[in-house]
Amino acid sequence: MAGRDGAASDFDRLVAFSREQLQAHARERFRDGGGTQPSVTRVVAGEAEAVFKDYADSAWLMRWFAPLFVYREASALERLAGIEGIPRVYRRVDGLGILIEYLPAPKWSRSQPTPAAHDRLEKLLADVHARGVAHGDLRGSGNILLRADGQPCLVDFVARVHRGRPWNRPWNAVFRAFCQADRNALAKLKLRWAPELATAEECRRAEHRGWPARIARAVGVGVRRLVRLLVRQPDR
Ligand SMILES: Nc1ncnc2c1ncn2[C@@H]1O[C@H](COP(=O)(O)OP(=O)(O)OP(=O)(O)O)[C@@H](O)[C@H]1O
Ligand SMILES: [Mg+2]
Repeated sequence: MAGRDGAASDFDRLVAFSREQLQAHARERFRDGGGTQPSVTRVVAGEAEAVFKDYADSAWLMRWFAPLFVYREASALERLAGIEGIPRVYRRVDGLGILIEYLPAPKWSRSQPTPAAHDRLEKLLADVHARGVAHGDLRGSGNILLRADGQPCLVDFVARVHRGRPWNRPWNAVFRAFCQADRNALAKLKLRWAPELATAEECRRAEHRGWPARIARAVGVGVRRLVRLLVRQPDR
């Protein structure tokens, strides 16, 4: 009981930390911040841990847009709350950062996914879509993790697209196209990691990039170019 109380108070302490305290408790760096990128860090306080994704070290232009990115990610994770394999949101930090649940799971590309893991990943994606969220950035596979017990996990919902109101048919057509792009990305993943499992339909879908993926890529490249043009040196 004392152990559980200790863990709870560690958690309360961690969630209330300032940016400086979070940085001081950094244990593992998943990615360094700077330019167009946020820093992504595992922070630990006693028995509690979390992931802190923070745009404070990014170029000024990205810091300007950071509240929008943080809002996009947090609102998607809030919609998906309770789904196994999706991190919980603990807190937004000054509009520039977000503190979320740490998922002890290596990247899919560094794991040995079994056929059952592919099925569970498809089920997870279907649950995410059913809640009205298309991920929008699964093509590179870096946002797919796999826990040792075989549970797939999804992170990085900045590029997400939410389903619109029932009357908003044009937007819902966009939403459906992004859901299809997510499924195509999983077909590509299966073809790469378990080609023997892929059906003819999945082989066809794996090749099909679709306009959502092309737009997402063009936006990413455009933003990086713009930031490089306007921000010669990431001002820290
Ligand atoms: N909640 C989490 N639990 C465990 N690891 C995480 C979590 N969130 C992120 N990571 C790790 O940090 C990496 C980068 O996080 P994220 O994808 O959110 O940031 P990013 O800036 O988009 O990075 P990238 O451009 O590499 O996708 C992930 O690929 C994953 O390995
Ligand atoms: Mg990512």
